[in-house]
Amino acid sequence: MEFSIDAAITLILFILPAYFANSAPVIFGGGEPLDFGKKFFDGRRLLGKGKTIRGFLAGVFAGTLIGLLEAFILPYTPFGFFCNPSNYIVLAFFLSTGTMAGDSLGSFIKRRLAIPSGSPSLLLDQLAFLAIALFFAYPRAQFFYSPLNLLFLFLLTYVMHITFNVLANKLGLKRVPW
Ligand code: CTP
Ligand code: MG
Repeated sequence: MEFSIDAAITLILFILPAYFANSAPVIFGGGEPLDFGKKFFDGRRLLGKGKTIRGFLAGVFAGTLIGLLEAFILPYTPFGFFCNPSNYIVLAFFLSTGTMAGDSLGSFIKRRLAIPSGSPSLLLDQLAFLAIALFFAYPRAQFFYSPLNLLFLFLLTYVMHITFNVLANKLGLKRVPW
């Protein structure tokens, strides 16, 4: 596919549920941790106190909600990419579940590397969620997976993640800007 502004907008609309899923836990998370406080063989927490059940569910819910909105709006714009509107909701659910699974996996790897909860890991924080979200969504939207599109999504996510974390920090939602 040739790259154009239209193609970029379509790609952003495609990945939007993953971004919302990834951001929602910062606002709606908290409570019982996903690992129930359990430790791994290395004596460190499985995931840590930063990954909560409510955060995980909030992410899946928020992302899927974006898919629902897309199902209502995109068919009436030039940027739609599905014939059947319900496909937007299903795709968003897979993207969001993948996002939260990837976010948790990134956290699991961070703990194994002895990085404390809340401390940054440039690649794991910013790209693990995207990689797993894309993996989960692949069967639903194969036509998006060209090398150029993937490069665009990873670069965009990297820049967006940094921008939003700095913003969330300034708004007092996150203690640290990462
Ligand atoms: N959060 C949550 N549940 C999740 C993910 C995130 O409640 N499944 C909330 C937590 O309050 C968390 C905040 O969102 O502290 C920021 O999330 P993130 O930066 O992804 O986690 P960290 O606290 O940095 O933890 P880690 O070091 O394990 O990545
Ligand atoms: Mg973090």
